[in-house]
Amino acid sequence: MKVALVTGSAGLIGSEAIEFFSKKFDLVVGIDNNTRQVLFGKEASVEWNIQRLQSEIPNYKHYSIDIRNYADVEKVFKEYGSSIDLVVHAAAQPSHDWAAKEPLTDFGINATGTLHLLELTRLNCEKAVFIFTSTNKVYGDTPNYLPLVELENRWEISQDHRFFAKGIDETMSIDNTKHSLFGASKVAADVLAQEYGKYFGMNVGIFRGGCLTGPKHSGTQLHGFLAYLMKCAITGEHYSVFGYKGKQVRDNIHSWDLVNMFWHFYQNPRQGEVYNAGGSRHSNCSMKEGIAICETIIGKKMNYSYVEDNRIGDHIWWISDVSKFKSHYPTWEYKYNLNDILTQIHASMSQRLRTVSH
Ligand SMILES: NC(=O)c1ccc[n+]([C@@H]2O[C@H](COP(=O)([O-])OP(=O)(O)OC[C@H]3O[C@@H](n4cnc5c(N)ncnc54)[C@H](O)[C@@H]3O)[C@@H](O)[C@H]2O)c1
Repeated sequence: MKVALVTGSAGLIGSEAIEFFSKKFDLVVGIDNNTRQVLFGKEASVEWNIQRLQSEIPNYKHYSIDIRNYADVEKVFKEYGSSIDLVVHAAAQPSHDWAAKEPLTDFGINATGTLHLLELTRLNCEKAVFIFTSTNKVYGDTPNYLPLVELENRWEISQDHRFFAKGIDETMSIDNTKHSLFGASKVAADVLAQEYGKYFGMNVGIFRGGCLTGPKHSGTQLHGFLAYLMKCAITGEHYSVFGYKGKQVRDNIHSWDLVNMFWHFYQNPRQGEVYNAGGSRHSNCSMKEGIAICETIIGKKMNYSYVEDNRIGDHIWWISDVSKFKSHYPTWEYKYNLNDILTQIHASMSQRLRTVSH
């Protein structure tokens, strides 16, 4: 029997991974205790997704346990042992603004939690492929010191810079920069994951996400940019744009496209390899451009205002260069672009909001 184990299984990436791998593995085991609701409040609860996975996926087994509790997670690893052939570790405290509120909680989940998963994989199923969902915040605010130019609706990098054509690659330093507490706990986890690959020789892939998004995001102000933007667009709730004239640029990758990267990596794994993983030049927008697309989709103006102060550690311009991944896995391609993503978020969010209000 082949088992895929996914942490954060009710979150955006985790639940996409569960659906995807339920068709490829005999059993998909998910760990998620809805910490998302504890972190961000009731509107961010993933309970709806836990119930959906349990009712829709027959070969899904859910464990409502905390990845900070080594003994509890160990029981799950012991239950399946070497049948575990893939671990997708997507449980996290994912917000860089939130991390400063409780650095110990943030580090406990993001860094120590990741070490638990890596060590339990080494001890119980060392041949398994381990996927770690890292973040572009490991580069701290270094991207903000690139030569940026202001255009009418977005910041853009100078055309003569080597990152102009394809975006920022993995050669950017992760050292000596302002990461935010979140970025620091993710760096710890990212480097630990690399070490389990390079030192212990395990099959470990580290995917440094840009904006990961899709219709299953439980978007909230502190996390889930496009999902929360669309939610405000639909409900008329007020949306605040923080700093940089609303021209800050993010690249957005659909959760399915990211999980499909994991699948390619799983079939031909490497040891401790890092990849930037985002929408790249294929799918990106500034805050202003994102608002304009939402307004077109819903057919009315959004209720938003501008706040001069930017978020600490926020990127002004981030486009991931995914060509390293493409060079290792040439058959991988994007399935969704920005318009597809927002249209899908609109459809699923409208339906979820209708269900909640009834
Ligand atoms: N969404 C993004 O824009 C983005 C960008 C870059 C990187 N990432 C990374 O990708 C990964 C997945 O992000 P996401 O958007 O799916 O986040 P998410 O918040 O939607 O999902 C994370 C899930 O983990 C669960 N969880 C958190 N702490 C837990 C704990 N201690 N024990 C058990 N479960 C716990 C939460 O309840 C939640 O369902 C994270 O590592 C995140 O840092 C996300």
